[in-house]
Amino acid sequence: AANKKLLILPGDGIGPEVMREVRRVIDWMDRRRGIRFEMTEDLVGGAAIDARGTPIAPETVTAAKEADAVLFGSVGGPKWDTLGWDMRPEIAILTLRKELDLFANLRPAVVLDPLVDASTLKPDVVRGLDLMIVRESTGGLYFGEPRGVETLPDGQQRGFDTESYTTNEIERVARLSFELARKRKNRLASVEKANVMQSGLFWRKTVTALHQREFADVELTHMYADNCAMQLVRNPRQFDVIVTSNVFGDLLSDLASMLTGSLGMLPSATLGAADGTGRRHALYEPIHGSAPDIAGRGVANPLAQILSFAMLLRYSFDMEEEAALVENACTRVLASGLRTADIMQTGTAKVGTSVMGEAILRELDKVAA
Ligand code: NAD
Ligand code: IPM
Ligand code: MN
Repeated sequence: AANKKLLILPGDGIGPEVMREVRRVIDWMDRRRGIRFEMTEDLVGGAAIDARGTPIAPETVTAAKEADAVLFGSVGGPKWDTLGWDMRPEIAILTLRKELDLFANLRPAVVLDPLVDASTLKPDVVRGLDLMIVRESTGGLYFGEPRGVETLPDGQQRGFDTESYTTNEIERVARLSFELARKRKNRLASVEKANVMQSGLFWRKTVTALHQREFADVELTHMYADNCAMQLVRNPRQFDVIVTSNVFGDLLSDLASMLTGSLGMLPSATLGAADGTGRRHALYEPIHGSAPDIAGRGVANPLAQILSFAMLLRYSFDMEEEAALVENACTRVLASGLRTADIMQTGTAKVGTSVMGEAILRELDKVAA
């Protein structure tokens, strides 16, 4: 088979700390399973601003387009917060999503048995949860025009952004979500604010029409985003797949992460459209950020980043067996009582980032033996 090209972009803060643990899992795959990746690593975010004066160099975008998959850490931090609009580290991830046309951000929230008590919600509410949030990721409020800050005749200023979705933008993310639902429990909840937003009502009508045309076998419900936030806390297991806009998906997935115990647990896959040969651009990243409050201390939870690599194996390389190996190793390490600080509520041994990574390698060794 052709070489599997991976572009690794650790970024800032805890990004490089958790990425180091993924590198060890990648080495393990090479050593023990003969699975070889052709890897390149590059700077993005604040690290790229410091080294090159730009959050993401054009060459990095080109490399991302040429790679089979991109593994992204996280970007940002207080050091770069005052540099101005064009010098935000966050531009790196937004540019990659846009330039690679990565329109569907899959954010699974799965409650692993050993972590049932780690959530701030009652165990009976979250036990067994397996939810998939599909967040539209190249449109909506994040990219809509016009946007800016202007001075009004009366001397006041006005900041503005635009929420906007076209038929195609809605249909492609909804189609992918219906298809995902078919492989799961066959239920899709489409989430917007059709009661107050024109774009929300248009979203609802477009999803409804697509459902009637192509996916009548899938159980479709519509829900307002505010109600959805409440329902996720009240009874999250009512959901199978949720499809929603860029900004609502951002909020609802951070909320959903606490159902699983910690923001440090949630991976994601961001997928583009498949071309004629079935190839598609794809980027994998945890949903958490660079966590400046704990960066540099070696205490970050590496599981979201490692589970993002598992998603990469599954979605970009069809390596379901290896993906499951990694996921099972994570579950077994947690079952053994090891916890990073963010999920310590119920564990027996508090460990740092690299001890957690080592424990995962040991579990991998056990199953591969
Ligand atoms: P954050 O996700 O970085 O952190 C929120 C809280 O969760 C913090 O208390 C942090 O310590 C904790 N946390 C996050 N990941 C963790 C992990 N793996 N293990 C243990 N604890 C973890 O969000 P924030 O503080 O709002 O943002 C910090 C910076 O990160 C900002 O510059 C923001 O723009 C950026 N950010 C980047 C991405 C990305 O690159 N994809 C995503 C979100 C935020
Ligand atoms: C995320 C992050 C990003 C987003 C930021 C860093 C641009 O919060 O991936 O969830 O808002 O999409
Ligand atoms: Mn976010």
